[in-house]
Formats: sequence, structure tokens, C-alpha cells
Amino acid sequence: MSDAYLQLDKLTLAYGDTVAVKDLDLSIARGELVALLGPSGCGKTTTMRAIAGLLNPASGRINLDGADITRVSANKRAVGLVFQSYALFPHLTVYENVAFGLRLKGLRGEDLDAKVNAGIKSVGLAKFASRKPGELSGGQQQRVALARSMVMEPKVLLLDEPLSNLDARLRLEMRAELQRVQKETGVTMIFVTHDQAEALALADRIIVMLNGSIEQIGTPEDIYNRPVSSFVADFVGFENVFALKDGKLATPNGAVALSAAAPDDAAGLAWRPRAVILGSGPFQGTVRGTSFAGNSREYLLDSTLGPIKAEVDAALPQYELGSAIAFDLPVAASASLKRFG
Ligand SMILES: Nc1ncnc2c1ncn2[C@@H]1O[C@H](COP(=O)(O)OP(=O)(O)OP(=O)(O)O)[C@@H](O)[C@H]1O
Ligand SMILES: [Mg+2]
Repeated sequence: MSDAYLQLDKLTLAYGDTVAVKDLDLSIARGELVALLGPSGCGKTTTMRAIAGLLNPASGRINLDGADITRVSANKRAVGLVFQSYALFPHLTVYENVAFGLRLKGLRGEDLDAKVNAGIKSVGLAKFASRKPGELSGGQQQRVALARSMVMEPKVLLLDEPLSNLDARLRLEMRAELQRVQKETGVTMIFVTHDQAEALALADRIIVMLNGSIEQIGTPEDIYNRPVSSFVADFVGFENVFALKDGKLATPNGAVALSAAAPDDAAGLAWRPRAVILGSGPFQGTVRGTSFAGNSREYLLDSTLGPIKAEVDAALPQYELGSAIAFDLPVAASASLKRFG
């Protein structure tokens, strides 16, 4: 990509003999907010540590803002890193925590004061400047950590699961706050999360990682609606995922023909529970489980295709446990997967 601001080029990262990230290629534009999503152990933190300069690549290159920073030391990279445990200095006030890095850089007097105050204000903590971390809520501490990184004016700000210590309400608040700060300052941000809803809500683009490689990169709409692989489909809630064999669904009971042709290049098809049609269609199932979810009702069916998850409007008549239902998996409502397994 020609407009790449941060570029990872065939980056391989290892701990001793263990390769954690393999041949990673990635281009991020200036001002982008990118979410790094993936299961535990897939290499998210490792990738962030390499970008921050805390881990030397086994091979490959990192370019930032036109310069090769692969061998540049962490403190000269202009990359900020905020961890899940935000490690504020407990004995220093909010003001002094935010001022810390700037003092190290040699800033003093009014210049220092102006930057620190602007930073504290930008995360909504002006009233708390003289408090110590222990006198703040988790979300407020998180914002101090964010301000402390932001005042350093990093070229890239890396956030490694910064919200995972917060309760659900604070998490939502901080999510909005992060998005606001990012849009206002235009800082390029990479944000690690386990939580697909968080990634979908926040990011301009999502990178899904698996086993040290990138599985898919795309907009939230791409990832949510057009997963390329069975793994991504599963990860974003397509609960009915099938491999295709000679144009037929591969099921535990053999190949099953569909009512319409699948795309030629598809290795598999996936349906969200919402896309399953209940009450008519060529397939037969038995209701094994049902649960009420407010606006909708979810059904688990046993069928010749294996277990099927369906979700229908709660206002529709309810099917009893054990009853037989006809259903359909319409090809037009499926996601077509380029890779399976
Ligand atoms: N210091 C280390 N020494 C050896 N192996 C490590 C070390 N740190 C991480 N690993 C391994 O590298 C792989 C990637 O780890 P990493 O921490 O990047 O995962 P992650 O995607 O951040 O996972 P999580 O979501 O659990 O934080 C894992 O298999 C992990 O066991
Ligand atoms: Mg991690």
C-alpha cells in the first residue's frame, strides 16, 4: 500500500525456538484506528511489543513514517504503548504521572504545564489532577494512562487490551472516550482486544489473527458480513458453518445438496442463526433446545446436517421441545468462505 504510515514487512517474531508470529505483512495508514482481534496466544501482544521496540524481530522489517525503525531502540521510536495493567506510579499525582515522560524529555516550566494540562483535560480529568491513582476509579486510572501516552505525541499509539479490567459500563464509556480522543488528535492507533463487539464498534479496520498469522483484514462490515474463512465466520457469530465438497454441504451424515448453487470458489458456507429459515424448507430437524432472548428466540435443532442454530422473531409461534421442524439454509443468505479449516 503506497499510503502506508506503519508498515510491517515479513515480520517473524520468536521467543527462543518458539515462533510466535510468522511472515506478517501489514500496512496501516496515518490516522487509522485498527483493531487487532484474535484468540489467546495468537500473537497480538507479541506483535505490539515488536512495533514498540520491546522485542527484536527474528526477521523482517518495520517502517514508520518513511523510516526503517527495525533496529531503532524503543525510546526513540515515537511509539506509545498502553497495557492492560496500566502501571501508574502510585505515589505520584495524576498531574505528575502525566508529566513524567515529558520531564524525561527535558520539558520544564510553562511548556510542560501546558502540555500536561491539555492532556489531562482531553481525557476529562481536569478536576482530578492532584489526586493519586489510588483515589481514582479503574476507568479514571485508565484515562490517566491514556493521557500519559498521548502527551508524548506518539506517531503510533498501541493499546493492549486496555479496557479488559473495566466493568461493562465503564468499558462502554472508555470505548467512546478512546474513539473521541483518536478522532480529535488523529493519532494512529492499534488496539488489541479479545472482544469482537468492541472491535466492530471502534475500528476503521479489523485485523483478525490466528496462530501467528493474519487470517483476514477488512472493515468491520467486511469481517462481520464477509468472513473469508471458517475460523473468522465462527469468531464473528456464524454458528452454522459447513465445508463444501463438489458443491454439496459436507455433513456428519455425508454430502447434502443445497437448493441453489454455491459460488464456484467457495470452500465452505456459513449462516448466522438469523439466516436459517424455520417452518419450511427441504431439511428436517428436531427441537433440542430453545431459549428466549428478548426480541428473538433461539432454537437448537438436531438434524441430518448436524446441530443447527436458528434465531427467529420472538413474536412468532413457539416450537415445543422435541417437535419436528422443516428448515432451510438459503444459499443467498450465506457467507461464502474461501478457506475452510
Ligand atoms: N516471553 C515468552 N516466552 C516464550 N513464549 C512466549 C512468551 N510470550 C509469549 N509467548 C508465546 O507466544 C505466543 C503468542 O503470545 P502473545 O502474548 O503474543 O499472545 P496474545 O495474542 O497476546 O494472547 P492473549 O490474548 O492471551 O494476550 C503464545 O504461544 C505464547 O505462549
Ligand atoms: Mg496479549
